Amino acid sequence: MNYNEALAKLKACGQEHVLNHYDTLSDQEKEALLAQVAQTDFSVTENIGREIKRGKISAIGTMELSEIKEREDEFRAKGLQAIREGKLAAVLLAGGMGTRLGSDNPKCMYDIGITKHVYIMQRLIENVMEVTDEAGRMIPFYIMTSEKNHDATVGFMKEHDFFGYDPEQVHFFRQEMAPASDYEGKVYMESAGRIATSPNGNGGWFLSLIRAGLGAQLEKDGTEWLNVFAVDNVLQRIGDPVFLGAVLAEGKASGAKVVRKVSPDEKVGAMCLEDGKPSIVEYYDMTPELKAETNEKGDPAYNFGVILNYLFRVDDMHRIMGGDFPLHVVNKKIPHIDADGNPVVPEEPNGYKYEQLVLDMIVQLDSCLPFEVVREKEFAPIKNKTGVDSVESARELCKMNGIEL
Ligand code: UTP
Repeated sequence: MNYNEALAKLKACGQEHVLNHYDTLSDQEKEALLAQVAQTDFSVTENIGREIKRGKISAIGTMELSEIKEREDEFRAKGLQAIREGKLAAVLLAGGMGTRLGSDNPKCMYDIGITKHVYIMQRLIENVMEVTDEAGRMIPFYIMTSEKNHDATVGFMKEHDFFGYDPEQVHFFRQEMAPASDYEGKVYMESAGRIATSPNGNGGWFLSLIRAGLGAQLEKDGTEWLNVFAVDNVLQRIGDPVFLGAVLAEGKASGAKVVRKVSPDEKVGAMCLEDGKPSIVEYYDMTPELKAETNEKGDPAYNFGVILNYLFRVDDMHRIMGGDFPLHVVNKKIPHIDADGNPVVPEEPNGYKYEQLVLDMIVQLDSCLPFEVVREKEFAPIKNKTGVDSVESARELCKMNGIEL
């Protein structure tokens, strides 16, 4: 794309300020900026103020701990059999920026150790290796990164010899980026020659995996199920045979690990049905009526929160790939340069990022098994440095589970 073509594209969407500092750039920087303009989808900003339409919310049944305990042996045997047949792969979503944690490195490199190094990635690999040891079969391990943290993540894994995992089984792919804008929809500039971008959310992971050419790998391995999970839960059970076995035994199209909410106001999304399809109702969408609703046991009807650990079928992912997922407009802090080219590092949110979310996939599926897990054993998310969902709280939970730090 040449300068005039870039200007025309930018004018058409009211973003011509992108070229304000063009004359100050080197030839190489000019070329890079024109290429970025060519690649960027500026229409994401049209989502500002657009409401995401939701269907009618109703309650979904959860498989609770008591039933899981009773049928654990049956589920474990079924899950292990599927793993031994090579039907399961794991997908780690590690493309996020981890801005709340505020570390310069990718979140997976964060060291939660006290007397020794215990990196988040190491915890995850140790957890999946418990299953591969039990099954006697490797689980292919896909890792989604973003342009911002790819090299650091790959380098870190190599430096640590993949924490003992077979490197042949680890497949990296990068997610797409989206521009970030101010509240009026004008994209921010990260520097004079670069539009500010951020990873486009965790919902586009399958499309990115396929675009990276990894569909052939799934096929070659005979993978039928994908266990998709977040990077920041250091107690995350990966490839859990009991979870997989339960989803298979119940004949469900997907599964979601859930924890019992500590209070009806807890800030987690709860599993539900939306127009009869499995879905997630966000805590801020819970009306007083929904909060007051009870099930046949007399418990709150929306009592189980998701922890970003799902089982999806590969064939379903192909079917819904690139589908019409809503784009969420998220209020965030966006570092940028001002009109005079001076760097600005905001202390408060100053604009929007545009994200597709993994939870929007669920509603496109025929069914889902919400599968209860014990919070203290499986849910230690690290979002912040201190306080709720922090390094501190995760360390406490690790200690409770006998993990040496
Ligand atoms: P979060 O919603 O906690 O976002 O991600 P984040 O970017 O890690 O952290 P903050 O909000 O900036 O502090 C939940 C999971 O989804 C992944 C994250 O890496 C994490 O595993 N994620 C998030 C992606 O893979 N890509 C994204 O674009 C966003």
